[in-house]
Amino acid sequence: MRLDKFIVEAGLATRTEVARLCKAGAVCVNGVVVRRASGHIEPVTDKVTLHGREVIWREFTYVMLNKPDGYVSATDDGKFPTVIELLPDELQKIGLFPCGRLDKNTLGLMLLTNNGPLAHKLLAPKNHVDKKYRFTVKFPISDADVTDLESGVDIGGYVTAPCKVEMIDEKNGYITLTEGKYHQIKLMAEAVHNQITHLERVTFGPISLDTSLERGEWRFLTPEEEKALEDRGVSAVLGAKE
Ligand code: URA
Repeated sequence: MRLDKFIVEAGLATRTEVARLCKAGAVCVNGVVVRRASGHIEPVTDKVTLHGREVIWREFTYVMLNKPDGYVSATDDGKFPTVIELLPDELQKIGLFPCGRLDKNTLGLMLLTNNGPLAHKLLAPKNHVDKKYRFTVKFPISDADVTDLESGVDIGGYVTAPCKVEMIDEKNGYITLTEGKYHQIKLMAEAVHNQITHLERVTFGPISLDTSLERGEWRFLTPEEEKALEDRGVSAVLGAKE
């Protein structure tokens, strides 16, 4: 594996930064300073250090993105820009894909990973991983609407599973779903004769949107967030077996 790819995938720097760090003598392989970022290493057996600290190789990469308006949650699209295009070149080449879809005009928390089995576990409806959204609607929502939304509404022949609605005021609130049907929240709003005018995902399972990220910005998940996500994947599977 290339040295720069190894360090990028460890979540420590971008490819351009790795080149600079190598030139500056900050990177060692098996105790020897390596100034060429394009050199090859053996990820499991070689010991790579950055500023004297060991770089641990990661099999999978996890990225949090604050999705802006106008981008589709896909790896490829003939018509619109994809969320993958918001990542630097080196991260576009490591098989990342969006973990669950958001509509083109929905904003907020998007997780991207190349850990297919984990994404599959987190998205399987039977595993009930919570996703929380901040919404605004066109018309005031009544208490009766909240009760209907929470207990389940018919969205074109499918009755939605119980969910949680917390109103901030009569037009703004949070909705927490454990499932993800196509256009679900928009269709739920229509089922109570309303219309979504703003939708933003704020949590996905144990992960919350980092509010310091501007729209279109991304960062790697921290080791704690990665662990929480992987643990949620494990508990999802165990829970589903009960
Ligand atoms: N529900 C929707 O209607 N749109 C989304 O993007 C997510 C949930």
